[in-house]
Amino acid sequence: MPSPRRRPDPAPLSALTLLALEDIAGAAIVLDAELRVVDFTPSAEQLVGAPLSRGTFAAKALCGEGDQRPIAEALAAGQAVAAEVTRVHPEGGTRVLHVRGTPLRRAGVTLGFVLLLEESGWERGGPDAPVERFSILTADRGMKQLLRDIERVARRSATVLVRGETGTGKELVAQAIHAASARSGGPFRAINCAALPPHLLESELFGHARGAFTGAVRDAPGHFRLASGGTLFLDEVAELSLELQAKLLRVLQERVVIPVGGRDSIPVDVRVVSATHRSLQGAVAEGSFRADLMYRLRVVPLFIPPLRERGDDVLHIAQRFIAEQNALDERQVLSISSGARARLRAHPFPGNVRELQNVIEYAFTMGDGPVLLESDLPPELREAPAPDGDRQRAQVNVPRSVPGKAAPREDNEAARIRFALERSAGHRGRAAQSLGISRATLWRRMRALGLAE
Ligand SMILES: Nc1ncnc2c1ncn2[C@@H]1O[C@H](COP(=O)(O)OP(=O)(O)OP(=O)(O)O)[C@@H](O)[C@H]1O
Ligand SMILES: [Mg+2]
Repeated sequence: MPSPRRRPDPAPLSALTLLALEDIAGAAIVLDAELRVVDFTPSAEQLVGAPLSRGTFAAKALCGEGDQRPIAEALAAGQAVAAEVTRVHPEGGTRVLHVRGTPLRRAGVTLGFVLLLEESGWERGGPDAPVERFSILTADRGMKQLLRDIERVARRSATVLVRGETGTGKELVAQAIHAASARSGGPFRAINCAALPPHLLESELFGHARGAFTGAVRDAPGHFRLASGGTLFLDEVAELSLELQAKLLRVLQERVVIPVGGRDSIPVDVRVVSATHRSLQGAVAEGSFRADLMYRLRVVPLFIPPLRERGDDVLHIAQRFIAEQNALDERQVLSISSGARARLRAHPFPGNVRELQNVIEYAFTMGDGPVLLESDLPPELREAPAPDGDRQRAQVNVPRSVPGKAAPREDNEAARIRFALERSAGHRGRAAQSLGISRATLWRRMRALGLAE
Protein backbone atom coordinates (compact mmCIF):
# COMPACT_ATOMS: atom_id res chain seq x y z
CA MET A 1 0.00 0.00 0.00
CA PRO A 2 1.46 3.36 -0.90
CA SER A 3 2.29 5.39 2.17
CA PRO A 4 0.69 8.87 2.35
CA ARG A 5 4.23 10.28 2.38
CA ARG A 6 4.65 9.14 -1.21
CA ARG A 7 1.87 11.39 -2.42
CA PRO A 8 3.08 13.43 -5.38
CA ASP A 9 4.00 16.99 -4.52
CA PRO A 10 0.98 19.30 -4.85
CA ALA A 11 1.08 21.49 -7.92
CA PRO A 12 1.82 25.17 -7.24
CA LEU A 13 -1.17 27.47 -7.61
CA SER A 14 -1.45 29.83 -10.53
CA ALA A 15 -0.73 33.51 -9.97
CA LEU A 16 -4.40 34.23 -10.62
CA THR A 17 -5.55 31.68 -8.05
CA LEU A 18 -3.23 33.25 -5.48
CA LEU A 19 -4.58 36.70 -6.20
CA ALA A 20 -8.13 35.38 -5.87
CA LEU A 21 -7.18 33.74 -2.56
CA GLU A 22 -5.67 36.97 -1.30
CA ASP A 23 -8.76 38.89 -2.33
CA ILE A 24 -11.06 36.55 -0.47
CA ALA A 25 -9.00 35.72 2.58
CA GLY A 26 -6.11 38.18 2.82
CA ALA A 27 -2.47 37.11 3.12
CA ALA A 28 -2.33 33.32 2.97
CA ILE A 29 0.21 30.49 2.88
CA VAL A 30 -0.75 27.03 1.58
CA LEU A 31 1.11 24.08 3.08
CA ASP A 32 1.27 20.43 2.12
CA ALA A 33 0.51 17.64 4.58
CA GLU A 34 4.12 17.74 5.81
CA LEU A 35 3.83 21.46 6.57
CA ARG A 36 6.02 22.48 3.66
CA VAL A 37 5.16 25.68 1.84
CA VAL A 38 3.32 24.94 -1.42
CA ASP A 39 2.45 28.51 -2.24
CA PHE A 40 1.78 31.92 -0.75
CA THR A 41 -0.01 35.11 -1.76
CA PRO A 42 2.05 38.25 -2.51
CA SER A 43 1.35 40.01 0.77
CA ALA A 44 2.13 36.90 2.86
CA GLU A 45 5.79 37.29 2.04
CA GLN A 46 5.62 40.96 2.88
CA LEU A 47 4.03 40.24 6.27
CA VAL A 48 6.49 37.49 7.17
CA GLY A 49 9.23 39.96 6.30
CA ALA A 50 11.52 37.36 4.73
CA PRO A 51 11.56 35.58 1.39
CA LEU A 52 9.32 32.52 1.46
CA SER A 53 10.20 29.62 -0.76
CA ARG A 54 8.40 26.51 -1.81
CA GLY A 55 9.35 23.40 0.06
CA THR A 56 10.54 25.13 3.27
CA PHE A 57 8.86 24.18 6.51
CA ALA A 58 6.18 26.54 7.82
CA ALA A 59 7.47 26.61 11.35
CA LYS A 60 10.83 27.75 10.09
CA ALA A 61 9.32 30.42 7.86
CA LEU A 62 7.14 31.73 10.65
CA CYS A 63 9.09 31.07 13.82
CA GLY A 64 12.68 30.95 12.71
CA GLU A 65 14.60 27.88 13.75
CA GLY A 66 13.91 28.06 17.44
CA ASP A 67 11.90 25.53 19.31
CA GLN A 68 8.81 27.74 19.37
CA ARG A 69 6.49 25.74 17.16
CA PRO A 70 2.94 26.08 18.48
CA ILE A 71 1.47 26.41 15.00
CA ALA A 72 3.35 23.51 13.52
CA GLU A 73 2.50 21.29 16.46
CA ALA A 74 -1.20 22.07 16.43
CA LEU A 75 -1.43 21.62 12.69
CA ALA A 76 0.51 18.37 12.76
CA ALA A 77 -2.07 17.16 15.28
CA GLY A 78 -4.76 18.04 12.73
CA GLN A 79 -6.18 20.97 14.73
CA ALA A 80 -7.18 24.42 13.63
CA VAL A 81 -5.01 26.98 15.39
CA ALA A 82 -4.92 30.72 16.07
CA ALA A 83 -1.67 32.14 17.42
CA GLU A 84 0.36 35.30 17.65
CA VAL A 85 3.86 35.10 16.22
CA THR A 86 6.49 37.78 16.78
CA ARG A 87 8.78 38.48 13.85
CA VAL A 88 11.80 40.71 13.86
CA HIS A 89 11.38 42.76 10.75
CA PRO A 90 14.37 43.48 8.51
CA GLU A 91 13.31 47.14 8.26
CA GLY A 92 13.54 47.40 12.04
CA GLY A 93 11.24 46.74 14.97
CA THR A 94 9.17 43.71 15.70
CA ARG A 95 5.82 42.76 14.29
CA VAL A 96 3.18 40.61 15.81
CA LEU A 97 1.42 38.44 13.26
CA HIS A 98 -1.94 36.93 13.96
CA VAL A 99 -1.89 33.49 12.33
CA ARG A 100 -4.92 31.29 11.82
CA GLY A 101 -4.28 27.79 10.47
CA THR A 102 -6.81 25.25 9.23
CA PRO A 103 -6.30 21.71 7.93
CA LEU A 104 -7.57 20.98 4.43
CA ARG A 105 -9.24 17.58 4.60
CA ARG A 106 -10.92 15.42 2.00
CA ALA A 107 -12.54 12.09 2.88
CA GLY A 108 -10.84 12.07 6.25
CA VAL A 109 -7.35 12.59 4.80
CA THR A 110 -5.37 15.74 5.60
CA LEU A 111 -4.07 16.99 2.28
CA GLY A 112 -2.52 20.18 3.57
CA PHE A 113 -3.15 23.36 5.50
CA VAL A 114 -3.89 26.99 4.90
CA LEU A 115 -2.45 29.72 7.10
CA LEU A 116 -4.09 33.15 7.08
CA LEU A 117 -1.88 35.98 8.31
CA GLU A 118 -2.85 39.35 9.66
CA GLU A 119 -0.61 41.97 11.13
CA SER A 120 -1.56 42.74 14.70
CA GLY A 121 1.53 44.62 15.77
CA TRP A 122 -0.52 47.54 17.01
CA GLU A 123 -2.56 45.32 19.29
CA ARG A 124 0.23 44.66 21.75
CA GLY A 125 -0.60 45.50 25.36
CA GLY A 126 -3.87 43.64 25.83
CA PRO A 127 -7.41 44.16 24.60
CA ASP A 128 -8.05 47.29 26.69
CA ALA A 129 -4.76 49.07 26.09
CA PRO A 130 -4.97 52.23 23.97
CA VAL A 131 -3.67 51.87 20.43
CA GLU A 132 -3.16 54.33 17.64
CA ARG A 133 -3.47 53.61 13.93
CA PHE A 134 -3.72 56.23 11.22
CA SER A 135 -4.09 58.98 13.89
CA ILE A 136 -7.13 57.16 15.32
CA LEU A 137 -6.55 56.71 19.04
CA THR A 138 -8.73 54.28 20.93
CA ALA A 139 -8.85 51.76 23.73
CA ASP A 140 -12.34 50.59 22.91
CA ARG A 141 -12.76 47.04 21.64
CA GLY A 142 -15.45 47.97 19.10
CA MET A 143 -13.17 50.69 17.70
CA LYS A 144 -10.26 48.25 17.53
CA GLN A 145 -12.45 45.97 15.45
CA LEU A 146 -13.17 49.00 13.26
CA LEU A 147 -9.39 49.51 12.83
CA ARG A 148 -9.08 45.89 11.70
CA ASP A 149 -12.04 46.35 9.34
CA ILE A 150 -10.36 49.45 7.90
CA GLU A 151 -7.24 47.44 7.06
CA ARG A 152 -9.36 44.72 5.55
CA VAL A 153 -11.46 46.99 3.32
CA ALA A 154 -8.40 49.02 2.37
CA ARG A 155 -6.98 46.01 0.52
CA ARG A 156 -9.89 45.88 -1.89
CA SER A 157 -11.56 48.62 -3.84
CA ALA A 158 -15.11 48.13 -2.55
CA THR A 159 -17.21 51.22 -1.96
CA VAL A 160 -17.42 52.01 1.75
CA LEU A 161 -20.09 53.93 3.64
CA VAL A 162 -19.03 55.31 7.02
CA ARG A 163 -21.81 56.08 9.44
CA GLY A 164 -21.42 57.93 12.71
CA GLU A 165 -22.69 60.90 14.66
CA THR A 166 -21.14 64.28 14.05
CA GLY A 167 -17.53 64.54 15.19
CA THR A 168 -16.98 60.79 15.64
CA GLY A 169 -14.13 60.71 13.10
CA LYS A 170 -15.81 59.80 9.80
CA GLU A 171 -13.34 61.77 7.74
CA LEU A 172 -10.46 60.34 9.74
CA VAL A 173 -11.70 56.83 8.91
CA ALA A 174 -11.97 57.71 5.21
CA GLN A 175 -8.37 59.01 5.31
CA ALA A 176 -7.29 55.83 7.09
CA ILE A 177 -8.83 53.65 4.38
CA HIS A 178 -6.97 55.69 1.80
CA ALA A 179 -3.68 55.56 3.71
CA ALA A 180 -3.87 51.79 4.19
CA SER A 181 -4.78 51.11 0.57
CA ALA A 182 -2.70 50.60 -2.53
CA ARG A 183 -3.98 54.05 -3.60
CA SER A 184 -2.15 55.83 -0.77
CA GLY A 185 0.30 57.35 -3.25
CA GLY A 186 -2.61 58.96 -5.10
CA PRO A 187 -4.73 61.93 -4.03
CA PHE A 188 -7.33 61.98 -1.24
CA ARG A 189 -10.09 64.48 -1.89
CA ALA A 190 -13.06 65.27 0.31
CA ILE A 191 -16.24 67.05 -0.65
CA ASN A 192 -19.19 67.88 1.57
CA CYS A 193 -22.41 67.19 -0.32
CA ALA A 194 -24.44 69.31 2.12
CA ALA A 195 -22.34 72.45 1.71
CA LEU A 196 -23.20 73.49 -1.85
CA PRO A 197 -26.40 74.03 -3.86
CA PRO A 198 -26.97 71.21 -6.40
CA HIS A 199 -25.81 73.04 -9.55
CA LEU A 200 -22.49 74.04 -7.97
CA LEU A 201 -22.04 70.63 -6.45
CA GLU A 202 -22.52 68.97 -9.82
CA SER A 203 -19.68 70.92 -11.39
CA GLU A 204 -17.53 70.46 -8.27
CA LEU A 205 -18.01 66.69 -8.55
CA PHE A 206 -17.96 66.08 -12.28
CA GLY A 207 -16.25 69.21 -13.59
CA HIS A 208 -17.49 71.61 -16.24
CA ALA A 209 -16.59 72.72 -19.73
CA ARG A 210 -15.62 76.28 -20.52
CA GLY A 211 -18.75 78.37 -21.10
CA ALA A 212 -21.05 75.82 -19.44
CA PHE A 213 -22.51 78.61 -17.32
CA THR A 214 -21.78 82.24 -16.49
CA GLY A 215 -18.42 82.36 -14.79
CA ALA A 216 -17.18 79.08 -16.29
CA VAL A 217 -14.27 80.80 -17.98
CA ARG A 218 -12.21 77.66 -18.35
CA ASP A 219 -12.56 73.88 -18.16
CA ALA A 220 -12.59 72.52 -14.62
CA PRO A 221 -11.84 68.86 -13.97
CA GLY A 222 -14.05 68.27 -10.89
CA HIS A 223 -13.31 66.12 -7.85
CA PHE A 224 -13.81 62.76 -9.55
CA ARG A 225 -11.02 63.48 -11.99
CA LEU A 226 -8.84 65.26 -9.44
CA ALA A 227 -9.05 62.17 -7.22
CA SER A 228 -8.01 59.89 -10.08
CA GLY A 229 -5.77 57.09 -8.84
CA GLY A 230 -6.79 57.91 -5.29
CA THR A 231 -9.84 58.16 -3.04
CA LEU A 232 -12.83 60.48 -3.15
CA PHE A 233 -14.62 61.11 0.15
CA LEU A 234 -18.26 62.13 -0.26
CA ASP A 235 -19.28 63.57 3.10
CA GLU A 236 -22.97 63.95 4.07
CA VAL A 237 -23.95 61.89 1.05
CA ALA A 238 -27.56 61.57 2.29
CA GLU A 239 -28.00 65.26 1.46
CA LEU A 240 -27.49 64.83 -2.31
CA SER A 241 -30.44 65.94 -4.43
CA LEU A 242 -32.33 63.18 -6.26
CA GLU A 243 -31.07 64.52 -9.57
CA LEU A 244 -27.43 64.33 -8.49
CA GLN A 245 -28.03 60.90 -6.99
CA ALA A 246 -29.01 59.67 -10.46
CA LYS A 247 -25.84 61.18 -11.94
CA LEU A 248 -23.63 59.77 -9.22
CA LEU A 249 -25.15 56.33 -9.71
CA ARG A 250 -24.27 56.47 -13.39
CA VAL A 251 -20.69 57.48 -12.63
CA LEU A 252 -20.30 54.62 -10.17
CA GLN A 253 -21.78 52.12 -12.62
CA GLU A 254 -19.99 53.23 -15.74
CA ARG A 255 -16.84 54.69 -14.22
CA VAL A 256 -16.99 57.72 -16.51
CA VAL A 257 -17.94 61.34 -15.88
CA ILE A 258 -19.50 63.84 -18.25
CA PRO A 259 -18.56 67.39 -17.18
CA VAL A 260 -21.37 69.96 -16.99
CA GLY A 261 -21.76 71.43 -20.49
CA GLY A 262 -19.44 68.79 -21.95
CA ARG A 263 -20.28 66.00 -24.36
CA ASP A 264 -17.55 63.43 -23.95
CA SER A 265 -17.46 60.93 -21.16
CA ILE A 266 -14.12 60.78 -19.40
CA PRO A 267 -13.00 57.59 -17.64
CA VAL A 268 -12.25 57.93 -13.92
CA ASP A 269 -10.39 55.56 -11.61
CA VAL A 270 -11.51 56.47 -8.12
CA ARG A 271 -12.33 54.63 -4.95
CA VAL A 272 -15.37 56.17 -3.32
CA VAL A 273 -15.78 56.36 0.45
CA SER A 274 -18.89 58.17 1.60
CA ALA A 275 -20.22 59.19 4.98
CA THR A 276 -23.48 60.09 6.60
CA HIS A 277 -24.61 60.94 10.10
CA ARG A 278 -28.11 59.65 9.41
CA SER A 279 -29.39 56.32 8.23
CA LEU A 280 -29.45 55.95 4.44
CA GLN A 281 -32.07 53.27 4.89
CA GLY A 282 -34.25 55.83 6.69
CA ALA A 283 -33.68 58.32 3.84
CA VAL A 284 -34.69 55.62 1.34
CA ALA A 285 -37.82 54.86 3.38
CA GLU A 286 -38.85 58.51 3.37
CA GLY A 287 -38.24 58.78 -0.38
CA SER A 288 -35.32 61.22 -0.28
CA PHE A 289 -32.65 58.70 -1.30
CA ARG A 290 -32.49 56.15 -4.13
CA ALA A 291 -32.30 52.56 -2.96
CA ASP A 292 -30.10 51.52 -5.92
CA LEU A 293 -27.54 54.21 -5.05
CA MET A 294 -27.62 53.20 -1.40
CA TYR A 295 -26.69 49.62 -2.34
CA ARG A 296 -23.86 50.91 -4.54
CA LEU A 297 -22.48 53.12 -1.77
CA ARG A 298 -22.74 50.77 1.17
CA VAL A 299 -21.10 47.66 -0.27
CA VAL A 300 -19.16 47.71 2.99
CA PRO A 301 -20.84 49.70 5.78
CA LEU A 302 -18.63 50.80 8.70
CA PHE A 303 -20.13 52.20 11.88
CA ILE A 304 -18.27 54.48 14.31
CA PRO A 305 -19.75 54.29 17.81
CA PRO A 306 -20.38 57.61 19.61
CA LEU A 307 -17.71 58.71 22.10
CA ARG A 308 -20.04 58.28 25.12
CA GLU A 309 -20.23 54.54 24.36
CA ARG A 310 -16.48 54.06 24.15
CA GLY A 311 -15.65 53.85 27.86
CA ASP A 312 -12.27 55.38 28.70
CA ASP A 313 -11.69 56.67 25.17
CA VAL A 314 -12.81 60.09 26.33
CA LEU A 315 -9.91 60.20 28.83
CA HIS A 316 -7.31 58.74 26.46
CA ILE A 317 -8.25 61.15 23.70
CA ALA A 318 -8.41 64.03 26.23
CA GLN A 319 -4.79 63.24 27.17
CA ARG A 320 -3.88 63.42 23.50
CA PHE A 321 -5.47 66.83 23.10
CA ILE A 322 -3.77 68.01 26.31
CA ALA A 323 -0.42 66.94 24.92
CA GLU A 324 -1.20 68.94 21.76
CA GLN A 325 -2.06 72.01 23.85
CA ASN A 326 1.06 71.55 25.98
CA ALA A 327 3.12 71.74 22.81
CA LEU A 328 1.48 75.04 21.85
CA ASP A 329 1.24 76.84 25.16
CA GLU A 330 3.22 77.91 28.18
CA ARG A 331 0.79 76.11 30.47
CA GLN A 332 1.84 72.50 30.94
CA VAL A 333 -0.96 70.25 32.12
CA LEU A 334 0.40 67.07 33.64
CA SER A 335 -2.77 65.47 34.90
CA ILE A 336 -6.54 65.66 35.03
CA SER A 337 -8.11 65.90 38.50
CA SER A 338 -10.42 63.08 39.45
CA GLY A 339 -13.36 65.50 39.61
CA ALA A 340 -12.68 66.62 36.03
CA ARG A 341 -12.30 63.01 34.95
CA ALA A 342 -15.66 62.14 36.42
CA ARG A 343 -17.25 65.08 34.60
CA LEU A 344 -15.64 64.09 31.31
CA ARG A 345 -16.77 60.48 31.74
CA ALA A 346 -20.34 61.55 32.56
CA HIS A 347 -20.85 64.08 29.76
CA PRO A 348 -22.80 62.68 26.76
CA PHE A 349 -20.67 64.51 24.15
CA PRO A 350 -23.28 65.02 21.45
CA GLY A 351 -20.48 66.58 19.36
CA ASN A 352 -18.22 63.59 20.07
CA VAL A 353 -14.44 63.89 19.58
CA ARG A 354 -14.63 67.34 18.06
CA GLU A 355 -16.58 68.58 21.10
CA LEU A 356 -13.99 66.96 23.39
CA GLN A 357 -11.26 68.81 21.52
CA ASN A 358 -13.06 72.10 22.15
CA VAL A 359 -13.69 71.24 25.81
CA ILE A 360 -9.99 70.59 26.36
CA GLU A 361 -8.99 73.76 24.59
CA TYR A 362 -11.46 75.71 26.74
CA ALA A 363 -10.23 74.12 29.97
CA PHE A 364 -6.63 74.72 28.97
CA THR A 365 -7.31 78.39 28.33
CA MET A 366 -9.50 79.07 31.35
CA GLY A 367 -7.45 77.34 34.00
CA ASP A 368 -3.82 77.43 34.95
CA GLY A 369 -1.33 75.23 36.72
CA PRO A 370 -0.32 71.66 36.04
CA VAL A 371 -3.65 70.02 36.91
CA LEU A 372 -6.72 70.31 34.73
CA LEU A 373 -9.49 70.88 37.26
CA GLU A 374 -13.22 70.38 37.23
CA SER A 375 -13.61 74.15 37.63
CA ASP A 376 -11.68 74.64 34.34
CA LEU A 377 -14.33 72.77 32.35
CA PRO A 378 -17.02 74.62 30.41
CA PRO A 379 -20.31 75.25 32.26
CA GLU A 380 -22.30 72.57 30.45
CA LEU A 381 -20.00 69.94 31.92
CA ARG A 382 -19.57 71.56 35.33
CA GLU A 383 -23.19 72.39 35.92
CA ALA A 384 -24.66 69.03 34.99
CA PRO A 385 -25.96 66.95 37.92
CA ALA A 386 -23.01 65.34 39.70
CA PRO A 387 -22.04 62.04 38.10
CA ASP A 388 -23.26 59.09 40.17
CA GLY A 389 -20.79 57.83 42.71
CA ASP A 390 -18.04 60.03 41.33
CA ARG A 391 -18.48 62.94 43.67
CA GLN A 392 -16.89 61.16 46.56
CA ARG A 393 -13.98 59.95 44.48
CA ALA A 394 -13.57 63.40 43.03
CA GLN A 395 -12.95 64.73 46.54
CA VAL A 396 -10.74 61.97 47.80
CA ASN A 397 -8.37 61.67 44.87
CA VAL A 398 -7.31 65.26 44.50
CA PRO A 399 -3.74 65.12 43.22
CA ARG A 400 -1.38 66.01 46.03
CA SER A 401 1.52 66.99 43.85
CA VAL A 402 0.45 70.61 43.50
CA PRO A 403 0.99 72.50 46.74
CA GLY A 404 -1.57 75.19 47.43
CA LYS A 405 -3.63 74.17 44.43
CA ALA A 406 -5.82 71.46 45.90
CA ALA A 407 -9.34 71.63 44.49
CA PRO A 408 -12.02 72.69 46.94
CA ARG A 409 -15.13 70.72 47.80
CA GLU A 410 -17.29 71.11 44.72
CA ASP A 411 -20.47 71.46 46.74
CA ASN A 412 -19.17 74.42 48.65
CA GLU A 413 -19.85 77.49 46.59
CA ALA A 414 -17.98 79.85 48.87
CA ALA A 415 -14.87 77.70 48.69
CA ARG A 416 -15.13 77.48 44.94
CA ILE A 417 -15.33 81.22 44.64
CA ARG A 418 -12.43 81.74 47.03
CA PHE A 419 -10.43 79.21 45.06
CA ALA A 420 -11.21 80.91 41.76
CA LEU A 421 -10.23 84.31 43.21
CA GLU A 422 -7.03 82.92 44.61
CA ARG A 423 -6.08 81.37 41.28
CA SER A 424 -6.82 84.58 39.43
CA ALA A 425 -4.81 86.57 41.99
CA GLY A 426 -7.94 88.46 43.01
CA HIS A 427 -8.88 89.38 39.44
CA ARG A 428 -12.69 89.17 39.57
CA GLY A 429 -13.22 89.15 35.80
CA ARG A 430 -10.98 86.13 35.35
CA ALA A 431 -12.40 84.40 38.40
CA ALA A 432 -15.94 84.88 37.06
CA GLN A 433 -14.87 83.57 33.68
CA SER A 434 -13.29 80.47 35.15
CA LEU A 435 -16.48 79.85 37.12
CA GLY A 436 -18.56 80.29 33.98
CA ILE A 437 -20.60 83.14 35.47
CA SER A 438 -20.76 86.87 34.81
CA ARG A 439 -18.85 89.42 36.94
CA ALA A 440 -22.20 90.74 38.21
CA THR A 441 -23.29 87.27 39.34
CA LEU A 442 -19.93 86.70 41.00
CA TRP A 443 -20.26 89.95 42.90
CA ARG A 444 -23.85 89.13 43.94
CA ARG A 445 -22.87 85.65 45.15
CA MET A 446 -19.83 87.03 47.00
CA ARG A 447 -22.06 89.47 48.86
CA ALA A 448 -24.66 86.79 49.63
CA LEU A 449 -21.96 84.50 50.96
CA GLY A 450 -20.26 87.17 52.97
CA LEU A 451 -17.11 87.10 50.86
CA ALA A 452 -17.20 90.72 49.75
CA GLU A 453 -15.37 93.16 51.96
N1 LIG B 1 -10.14 58.43 17.67
C1 LIG B 1 -9.64 59.64 17.49
N2 LIG B 1 -8.42 59.93 17.94
C2 LIG B 1 -7.90 61.17 17.77
N3 LIG B 1 -8.53 62.17 17.16
C3 LIG B 1 -9.75 61.94 16.68
C4 LIG B 1 -10.36 60.66 16.81
N4 LIG B 1 -11.58 60.72 16.23
C5 LIG B 1 -11.73 61.95 15.76
N5 LIG B 1 -10.63 62.70 16.01
C6 LIG B 1 -10.46 64.13 15.70
O1 LIG B 1 -11.72 64.74 15.92
C7 LIG B 1 -12.03 65.69 14.93
C8 LIG B 1 -13.31 65.30 14.23
O2 LIG B 1 -13.09 64.19 13.37
P1 LIG B 1 -13.71 64.10 11.90
O3 LIG B 1 -13.67 65.43 11.22
O4 LIG B 1 -13.09 62.94 11.20
O5 LIG B 1 -15.22 63.76 12.31
P2 LIG B 1 -16.53 63.68 11.39
O6 LIG B 1 -17.29 62.50 11.87
O7 LIG B 1 -16.13 63.72 9.96
O8 LIG B 1 -17.28 64.98 11.83
P3 LIG B 1 -18.52 65.74 11.07
O9 LIG B 1 -19.70 64.84 11.21
O10 LIG B 1 -18.67 66.97 11.88
O11 LIG B 1 -18.09 65.96 9.67
C9 LIG B 1 -10.82 65.74 14.03
O12 LIG B 1 -9.98 66.78 14.49
C10 LIG B 1 -10.17 64.40 14.23
O13 LIG B 1 -8.78 64.45 13.98
MG1 LIG C 1 -16.72 65.19 8.53
